[in-house]
Amino acid sequence: MKEKGKVILAIESSCDDTSAAVIKDGFLMSNVTASQAVHEQYGGVVPELASRAHQQNIVPVVDAALKRAGVEREELSAIAFTRGPGLMGSLLVGVSFAKGLAASLGIPMIDVNHLQGHVMAHFIKEVKDEGLRMKDDGKRDASSTLSLHTSPEFPFLCLLVSGGNSQIIKVNSYNDMEIIGQTIDDAAGEAIDKAAKVMGLGYPGGPIIDRLARQGNPEAYKFSKPHIPGYDYSFSGLKTSFLYNLRDWLKEDPDFISRHKEDLAASFERAVVDTLMQKLRLAARDLRIRQVAVAGGVSANTGLRNAFLEHARKYHWKVFIPKFGYTTDNAAMIAQAGYFKFLDGDFCPMEAPAYSRVTL
Ligand code: KG4
Repeated sequence: MKEKGKVILAIESSCDDTSAAVIKDGFLMSNVTASQAVHEQYGGVVPELASRAHQQNIVPVVDAALKRAGVEREELSAIAFTRGPGLMGSLLVGVSFAKGLAASLGIPMIDVNHLQGHVMAHFIKEVKDEGLRMKDDGKRDASSTLSLHTSPEFPFLCLLVSGGNSQIIKVNSYNDMEIIGQTIDDAAGEAIDKAAKVMGLGYPGGPIIDRLARQGNPEAYKFSKPHIPGYDYSFSGLKTSFLYNLRDWLKEDPDFISRHKEDLAASFERAVVDTLMQKLRLAARDLRIRQVAVAGGVSANTGLRNAFLEHARKYHWKVFIPKFGYTTDNAAMIAQAGYFKFLDGDFCPMEAPAYSRVTL
């Protein structure tokens, strides 16, 4: 029989990206993602449509990941998959596919917590390519290489910011993470997406706000900032303050948005970034930790990335910023987390169900 290396196929399908990746002996061989443009016209992810698109995408995406890695199915040692949290219908597609493939090949399965996966993106070692986005290609920038070849040392802090989460995580080891602060209402990405929606900018709003903000004045408008104790966040007050201010300005000038959208985007983005960094500074100071990483979809934001670089200079932090391709949902991070669990012999039983809500 052919000798098997440690080759793991990873599958991610928690929301609206179908992604598959192959990791071999700790090195990422491929990472293929199919995004779902179908949701744009609805201004948000429609769960039923997401599940259906995952069904259509999963086979070609897995095939492409194996092909790009130059790996045959028979060479696989295990299948890692996102077990949760996420949309149940979306998760079920990936989980069921992983189970079917693992059973047919007679190999073990590794369940990965999606949130831990985002943090583990900082440990990805690339060998071949930076990934393939089958629809909207993730852009790259020079600063994104900062973190790639040096991974953070434990313990470090990770700001996890996405459409569903805003958390400060103390990462003690690969499998020991504590949430020390989190949003009590909206996530940062959700607030940004909603601000974009009320301005009629389209979905997802994050990248649009980012682009406009680069041309605007972040000091143009002030919105009420939250006062929440400890390391927790709140973004719903900020969102409401934006909405009410906008309503008043529109009463005086119906063209207010089109005339000031850059300043509005820059000021709102500044308020979100300032809020995120303020609590992160507090946590870093109290815990005396200077290695600070950022992860999740909002970590693609230019303003947030610049704030990290500024904090590195000002507070002597060592910062870790992921490549654009590893900010939004991707299977490479699931492969990395799965690889660590594989080394620990930490497998999951065939009957393990998907879970829509779970903490770290
Ligand atoms: O991690 P992610 O892909 O999905 C989950 O929410 O799990 O994050 C998506 C979020 C959305 O709210 C999107 O608008 C935001 O990340 N996002 C951004 C940027 N790119 C994506 N927010 C601000 N600036 C960006 N450049």
